[in-house]
Amino acid sequence: MRTQVGIIGAGPSGLMLAQLLRQVGIESVIIEQRSRPYIENRIRAGVLEYEVAQLLRQSGVGARMDKIGLPHGGTSLLFGGEMHRIDFRDLTGKEVMVYSQHEVVRDLVAARVESGAPLLFECSDVAVEGFASGDAKIHFVHDGRAETLHCDFIAGCDGFHGVCRPSMPDGHLTFFDRVYPFSWLGILADAPPSAEELIYANHENGFALLSMRSPTVSRLYIQCDADEDLAEWPDHRIWEELDTRLQHPGFHLNTGKITQKGITPMRSFVTEPMQCGALFLVGDAAHIVPPTGAKGLNSAMADAVALSRALELHYAHKNHDGLENYSKHCLRRIWKVQRFSWWMTTMLHRSGEDGFSHRLQLAELDYVASSRTARKSLAENYVGLPL
Ligand code: FAD
Ligand code: DHB
Repeated sequence: MRTQVGIIGAGPSGLMLAQLLRQVGIESVIIEQRSRPYIENRIRAGVLEYEVAQLLRQSGVGARMDKIGLPHGGTSLLFGGEMHRIDFRDLTGKEVMVYSQHEVVRDLVAARVESGAPLLFECSDVAVEGFASGDAKIHFVHDGRAETLHCDFIAGCDGFHGVCRPSMPDGHLTFFDRVYPFSWLGILADAPPSAEELIYANHENGFALLSMRSPTVSRLYIQCDADEDLAEWPDHRIWEELDTRLQHPGFHLNTGKITQKGITPMRSFVTEPMQCGALFLVGDAAHIVPPTGAKGLNSAMADAVALSRALELHYAHKNHDGLENYSKHCLRRIWKVQRFSWWMTTMLHRSGEDGFSHRLQLAELDYVASSRTARKSLAENYVGLPL
């Protein structure tokens, strides 16, 4: 088997990269370890930046998003019992789109399957080789048969726990990371959202986030300990804590059947560089952010766009600058996204800070609430930096 670009992983980054490449006539094969139902039902992120929503439309996969997604023109910060709205439309002229990651995945998988281009599910023993010596190949087992896919390039879109990053030669990569002393307990519930827009709350019991998936489904998160045991959180305790942390005048928390419950650790992580020879890391394979700024999925899409543009330059114009500068280009953006995600996380969570740090946190919140310039900076980052 031979292709131009071998893509490992059918998450948002791998699927979007394949879609963008197909649009400019570049062949690819996607190799995914999980089944189609598994990736189409994996509940993760839910907020698309303005340009990412535009990207889905321009790539021909935006129709369902425009039908069932929820455009949001702002969000609110809740602290000291008071709500402070950040008006994205007024501050930036843009909005975000609340649309589930697994719906994005479904739309991209459907487009891929319809095109007839290869997308192989349930591949095992995936390994990469030869990428540093001009003979890039991917070994894997599919349908019980051992296969080798020869590629011009390999895109490692295989997430934080994938095989591509660990396959880079010893000493080639430098890692930068920060682990936070708390996690998020997230639920999906059959309950109408209790507010029209997202609420990010800093409460003395800890952070809480009110989000949603549809007019009948709520997505809610609360800060919990890093090593929290889910068994300690029966449904009634989760609802009580959400009610306490999100309470403000006129607010009523709608409750309902909890259909999904999970704990997400909080971490910042960046790999430098994001490339070795013909192997390029894309999305979570290269970097992860704490979810407070809603940036994980969006950053993965940004890398996919950068790599597709670089590959187009290479194939259509024999210009290799884009590929050579891929790491530099992506890292420049991701460090700004890391800064924003770290800032939102630090401003909104409680972690037993000393009195000085806590007062700085309150001053930060007060500054954002009272300064249009500060709100504009938050809004500009939240709706998304240019792709
Ligand atoms: P992934 O979506 O991880 O896709 C990688 C793909 O590669 C997967 O399909 C995987 O099965 C496949 N794969 C892995 N290893 C192999 C292999 N060896 N061979 C073949 N295939 C392989 N971000 C937010 O902004 N907000 C959120 O609320 C949020 N919640 C999250 C909750 C959870 C539980 C997790 C894990 C992440 C969350 N994120 C969130 C982050 C966001 O979902 C990710 O940033 C996004 O999925 C990154 O996309 P990706 O394509 O780079 O990687
Ligand atoms: C959601 C997740 C986030 O991390 C965030 O900042 C906002 C919304 C969500 O899952 O809806």
